[in-house]
Amino acid sequence: MRKRLIVGNWKLHKTASEAVAFVYRLSALAQAADDVEVVLAPPFTALQATAQAELPAFPFALGAQNLFWEDRGAFTGEISAPMLKELGCRYVILGHSERRRIFGEQDEEINKKVQAALRHGLRPILCIGETLTEREAGQTDRIVTQQLLRGLDGVAGKSLVGVAIAYEPVWAIGTGQAASADQATAVHRTLRKVMTERWNSREAEPVRILYGGSVTPENARQFLAAPEIDGALVGGACLDPQSFATILASAQAQQG
Ligand code: PGA
Repeated sequence: MRKRLIVGNWKLHKTASEAVAFVYRLSALAQAADDVEVVLAPPFTALQATAQAELPAFPFALGAQNLFWEDRGAFTGEISAPMLKELGCRYVILGHSERRRIFGEQDEEINKKVQAALRHGLRPILCIGETLTEREAGQTDRIVTQQLLRGLDGVAGKSLVGVAIAYEPVWAIGTGQAASADQATAVHRTLRKVMTERWNSREAEPVRILYGGSVTPENARQFLAAPEIDGALVGGACLDPQSFATILASAQAQQG
């Protein structure tokens, strides 16, 4: 069975000192569990403080929210995989819909970022998802398949084990209007099938497929109860330690 993965995507929230306070509070509220992996993805400026605030009683992995594909050079404002590795990052969120929509990221660039992450031993969390217009036009499967295959273009089957996919319907992100567990399950099945056909079942099997988009303490359990849903990418609800701890507890309860 794939180990569940719960990722807190802080987006543009929390300074370094706020991050430290958050980690202490979360550590007091959340239980560590061997069968659920927790990733905190603060802004770049809070990565180091977040890592240093980790307490033995509540282990988590550190994730970044983006990277640039070159290791170094004249790329003002960018951050590279080796820089993130040295700070202790193990994961990196790539291709988030806000990066696609607001910053114009295309599948081709996202693919270069995925390749750079894997080259340096960072685990990419590749975000994909359709807009409401695309869903209403019956294009969901086509869009997510395209984003998946373009995002993972050139990735060897043996590297897939380090990849996680986050299915995040654009219309569900930050809107309070989550997909239903059935809607998410259907897309997750499609994604698993596409990966199995493109690589093979042995290589596609360990890839975790997360759901993201208005996950809350109230609805987390219904997503995590589905065997096709291997975890969650949580935005708004991860900023409050109590609500994130409740979501983590839902993931743990599903294991038993
Ligand atoms: P949300 O964000 O939980 O606030 O909808 C999810 C995400 O953008 O990853």
